[in-house]
Amino acid sequence: MKRFSIPIILGSIRTGRASSRVAEFMKRRLRETGRVDTEVIDLREAALPMMEERLRFLPDPPARVVEFGETIARADAIVIVSPEYNGGYPGVLKNAIDYLLREYRRKPVGIVTVSSGTFGGIRVLEQLRDVMFATGAIPIPASLPVSRVQDLFEEDGSLKDASFEGRAGKFLDELFWYTEAISDMKEKERHDSA
Ligand SMILES: Cc1cc2nc3c(=O)[nH]c(=O)nc-3n(C[C@H](O)[C@H](O)[C@H](O)COP(=O)(O)O)c2cc1C
Repeated sequence: MKRFSIPIILGSIRTGRASSRVAEFMKRRLRETGRVDTEVIDLREAALPMMEERLRFLPDPPARVVEFGETIARADAIVIVSPEYNGGYPGVLKNAIDYLLREYRRKPVGIVTVSSGTFGGIRVLEQLRDVMFATGAIPIPASLPVSRVQDLFEEDGSLKDASFEGRAGKFLDELFWYTEAISDMKEKERHDSA
């Protein structure tokens, strides 16, 4: 069975953030499949400077921006975990996304939205789908809204409520379906042009 690289972009850098719990859960869940190399790209740790120019036009890019670009370039698919702030996704996430373009092309993107309220950050879903679609990525139709994140996850990302396991499983099955289909197609293209 093919192995895939699926990094998780964590779009919350807030002090006391809870979206990190969801990112940790997704990381563990992806690793448990035994077929995915993954890491959390924590935008707090990455501390990317405000984007004044895209990575490919920077003559002397900061190492952390280069590293971000390389991780996304290597990826077969991407998971984004984003909180909802005032009905949208955080600026720090858009700042990171805008550094790159070709690195996203034809890559499935699974979007997990997080809220402390009851609507699972669902307003972020369509907005991020639009943005990722504009980069040439392929946002998958499946969604994974997380409501009342503090009641659902412990700080280390373990589940307080096991019912989420099934929802996450269905979401990841969909992500794998697109990842596998697109990866097969890319392989066929390489083969045909060889
Ligand atoms: C500036 C700000 C705005 C927020 N706006 C919303 C919102 O529009 N809708 C919502 O459901 N939750 C909102 N929240 C609550 C977040 O859903 C909550 O903090 C949740 O834990 C996810 O974000 P976190 O990773 O920062 O913890 C907001 C939180 C902050 C800090």
